[in-house]
Amino acid sequence: KFPKPFTVPFTVPPEAVPTKRSSTTDYYTVSMRSAVTEILPGMKTETWSYDGTFGGPTIRATRGRPAVVRQINELPSVHPRLGYESWTSVHLHGSGSLPEYDGYASDITRSGQYKDYRYPNFQDARTLWYHDHGAHHTAENAYMGLAAMYTMHDELERSLPIPKGRYDVPLLIRDAMFDRDGQLLYDDEGHSGLFGDVILVNGRPWPVMKVERRKYRFRILNCAIARGFRFALSTGDPFVFIGTDAGLMPQPRSATSYRHGMAERYEVVIDFAKYRIGQRVVLKNLSVPNVEDFDTTGDVMAFDVTGDPTDLSGNAIPDLLNPNAPAMDLTAAMAKKTRTFEFIRKNGTWTINGKTWADVIASDYEYVWADPGLGDVEVWEFVNKSGGWFHPVHVHLVDFKVLDRNGRAPSPWELGGKDTVYVGENETVRVAVKFGPHTGRYMIHCHNLVHEDHDMMAQFRVGPPDT
Ligand code: C2O
Ligand code: CU
Repeated sequence: KFPKPFTVPFTVPPEAVPTKRSSTTDYYTVSMRSAVTEILPGMKTETWSYDGTFGGPTIRATRGRPAVVRQINELPSVHPRLGYESWTSVHLHGSGSLPEYDGYASDITRSGQYKDYRYPNFQDARTLWYHDHGAHHTAENAYMGLAAMYTMHDELERSLPIPKGRYDVPLLIRDAMFDRDGQLLYDDEGHSGLFGDVILVNGRPWPVMKVERRKYRFRILNCAIARGFRFALSTGDPFVFIGTDAGLMPQPRSATSYRHGMAERYEVVIDFAKYRIGQRVVLKNLSVPNVEDFDTTGDVMAFDVTGDPTDLSGNAIPDLLNPNAPAMDLTAAMAKKTRTFEFIRKNGTWTINGKTWADVIASDYEYVWADPGLGDVEVWEFVNKSGGWFHPVHVHLVDFKVLDRNGRAPSPWELGGKDTVYVGENETVRVAVKFGPHTGRYMIHCHNLVHEDHDMMAQFRVGPPDT
């Protein structure tokens, strides 16, 4: 019933076009709606997505120019098969947005309503993504397709001789499961997550991309709801990492395989110059513990080397990328406080320090796990004592520096600013964070979206309580 891997052509998601550009701001209008999409060849699948484009549209922003995105909820009011109400909240993951535009779980837009989200775009060039964050149905909504990329660009990035334009390619990677009629199958009994047997890249199953014999930059996002990956190339050659969640790293790093948790973004350069014309290089998934694998989940996509380069600009990786990469100047010694967050399953509920989002609701949104002052540096320690599952931990608003994991140095690909960190089985990860530039309440949660929905989500408040 599925296509054979590497038979469907690769595509890049469409780009959103502003409806208006003022002297300071770009305006977009996006409609969240149901659409019929051909994902598996010859099958019609109902998707829920931004502008009806499964895997898109990408919003391209320029540092220093804020964007206003009107998100209109035109979804059917009830999910046709799962039966829940289709409220939405849109989070721009990686943005230092004000609390009212951050996609707070209870700040919902119902079918027939809209909300204007204002994005400040003051941060360094980076790969962000926007996805649904509505309370308790984030996993289903993202799974149906409410997830897309947002890239921010700046002068420093433009000045570097790294691959650009058509050699700068987004890869939104996830899994999915389909029923006999080609509909997206969702089943999270036990609230552990959902593992599909089809791997989608930019909404297409195991696609094949034609490449020239030169360097390409790939912005890789794991937008699966529960699957972690360990990526590798079939040739055994290394990936060169140039960017993390918060954009360009201080310097490039390399590794022949790496672990990529949900919501993390890694920018890698692959140099196809050393391969011969006609050669196929496969992006493989070597897998991680505590996911469900199928015969088909070891392959992700293929690159077919089809010719010599038609353009050799931006074909380098400089030794220095961003010397002032966000958060990389932070140290444990700068911290005013250390706080511990234990990600733990208690009586079948996913909790953080034994409490959940239900405690937030019960307190009328006042209860917080942490209350750093504006501008404070703190060390946050994420603890996962389970042998049985992993949690990618995401902190809204801020970028952080990974200090260590079980007392050892972070992995080479983690040596850049991050907003989500893989907290594996029996791991304790310490990060240094500086809180700002906004005050207010923000979420911190596990980015296994099923864990998040049931109910492994907390909040912190920067600055004093509202008066
Ligand atoms: Cu990508 Cu709170 O989420
Ligand atoms: Cu989790």
